[in-house]
Amino acid sequence: MIYVTGGTGFTGRFVVDALLAAGETCRCLVRDRTMARRILPSSVDLVEGCLTGFSSLPGLSEADAVVHVAPIAIAGSRARVSADTGVERVLYFSSTWSVSSVRTPESEAVTAGEEIVMEQDIEWTIFRPTMIFGSGDRNVSRLGKWIRSHRFVPILDGGHRLVQPVFVEDVAQAVADAIPRRSTHGGVYEIAGPEPMTYSRMVDRIAEIEERTVAKLYLPGSLCETAARSFSAATGRRAFRDRILRMREDRAFSIDRASEDFGFAPRSFVEGLTAMRRLELQA
Ligand SMILES: NC(=O)c1ccc[n+]([C@@H]2O[C@H](COP(=O)([O-])OP(=O)(O)OC[C@H]3O[C@@H](n4cnc5c(N)ncnc54)[C@H](OP(=O)(O)O)[C@@H]3O)[C@@H](O)[C@H]2O)c1
Repeated sequence: MIYVTGGTGFTGRFVVDALLAAGETCRCLVRDRTMARRILPSSVDLVEGCLTGFSSLPGLSEADAVVHVAPIAIAGSRARVSADTGVERVLYFSSTWSVSSVRTPESEAVTAGEEIVMEQDIEWTIFRPTMIFGSGDRNVSRLGKWIRSHRFVPILDGGHRLVQPVFVEDVAQAVADAIPRRSTHGGVYEIAGPEPMTYSRMVDRIAEIEERTVAKLYLPGSLCETAARSFSAATGRRAFRDRILRMREDRAFSIDRASEDFGFAPRSFVEGLTAMRRLELQA
């Protein structure tokens, strides 16, 4: 049995589906059983609890492995608990935030979570996904929605910064492929799309799928950064500033290690968009 946290989230639902399709049984830690029952397949066993509220996780004892899809900043502190309960194998979802040059409280928390995990005497594997996309995601889907309803798209820095979005079903499949391979123990894997592209190209691809023509409104990155920093200083709100800073760096990663160790072969961005559109039409 695989114990999954974060199964009710955007990625977690696909992870549960991929594990079930691989013949595993799943037990999910959920914060709201009624809500989770509406989201997750009926074959999934549910236990109610919160990662931050218990000294030990309920229902963990019979688990062969744990997949923490919930953020590593929260789940990392559970590494010790896993070791105590005899669970030997844990796969954590971290983020490429941990290797970003933009240091924020959030990125520091991700790094701290990874450090806790790496120090523990358990078989751990860390996934660092880049931007995950699929129906309902907070990046590509939103951009698609914007493109459907506007005639222009604001783009920073001439749109030449690199991004490497990965389709959510490929991330989920990677979990199902890595879990049985104990050789992934101690592995930190960047989980990204097959190749990087410029932000501008990503916009073009989405517009093509949406069959829309949009003008690109290029915004000078340095000016936006100064404005975002001033706004942050005046209001104490950092999220917008951090997003601008993050968008000004290249987010391109090698997936060679994941490909070699468990055959990670994500589909292209266009194939992912097409699959996403197909799923949306079916829903
Ligand atoms: N989405 C991306 O583009 C992206 C990029 C890089 C890395 N990641 C990482 O990938 C993982 C999945 O991301 P996502 O966007 O799919 O996440 P999400 O939709 O925000 O879902 C987060 C999940 O974690 C659960 N959770 C959060 N805090 C919890 C707690 N204290 N106790 C128990 N459960 C808790 C949530 O439960 P509730 O349903 O009860 O809220 C939810 O099921 C995360 O670790 C994220 O950091 C995501």
